[in-house]
Amino acid sequence: MTEEDYVERTFVAIKPDAVKRGLIGEIVARFEDAGFKIMGMKMVQATDQLLEQHYEEHVDKPFYDELVEVMQSGPVVAMVVEGVHAAENMRKMVGETDNTEAHPATIRGRYAHMSMEHADESGSSYKNVIHAAEPGEQEREIEIWFEEEELHEYRHSDEEEVR
Ligand code: PPS
Repeated sequence: MTEEDYVERTFVAIKPDAVKRGLIGEIVARFEDAGFKIMGMKMVQATDQLLEQHYEEHVDKPFYDELVEVMQSGPVVAMVVEGVHAAENMRKMVGETDNTEAHPATIRGRYAHMSMEHADESGSSYKNVIHAAEPGEQEREIEIWFEEEELHEYRHSDEEEVR
C-alpha cells in the first residue's frame, strides 16, 4: 500500500454561527497547522434544497427546522481539504457533535459549550460551529456543495522541496 492510498479529500463547513463570530481565520489556521491542503473554499448562502440534500437522513427529525434556521442564519464557508485519512482526522479535530462532550482541544470544545439538551429544552437553536463529513459520506457531500472545476490540485511547497 502506498502513501497515496491513505490520502483523501473531505468536506468541511464552517457554520454561520462561527462565520458571524469572526472565527473563519482561526479555524482555517488549525487545518493548515495540521498540514491539511485546502483544495476548495467558498462562501455560500445555503438554500432549502441544498440543505435537504446535505442533511437527507435528518429531514424528518424533530430538530431539522432548527438546524436549517441556524444553517441559513448567515453564510457558510464550505471547504474541501485533502490529507491522510482526512475524514477521520477532521472529525477528530472538530470534536463530538454535542459541544458539551467535545474535548477542549477540539474546535467545538474550544469555541462552543451549549449542549443539545439545553438548546432543546430552552427552545434555543443549537449551534456547534462546524460540520465535518462522516467517513464514507465525504464524496457525496463534496458533490452537493462543489463543482469539480472549483477544486484545485496543487503541491504544497514542502512537497515540492522535499520530494
Ligand atoms: S442524530 O440525532 O444522531 O441523528 O444526530 P447527529 O447525527 O449527531 O447530528 C445530525 C446533525 O444534526 C445536528 N443536530 C441538531 N441540530 C439542532 N438541534 C438539535 N437538537 C440537533 N441534534 C443534532 C447536528 O449538529 C448534526 O449536524 P452537523 O452539521 O453534522 O453538526
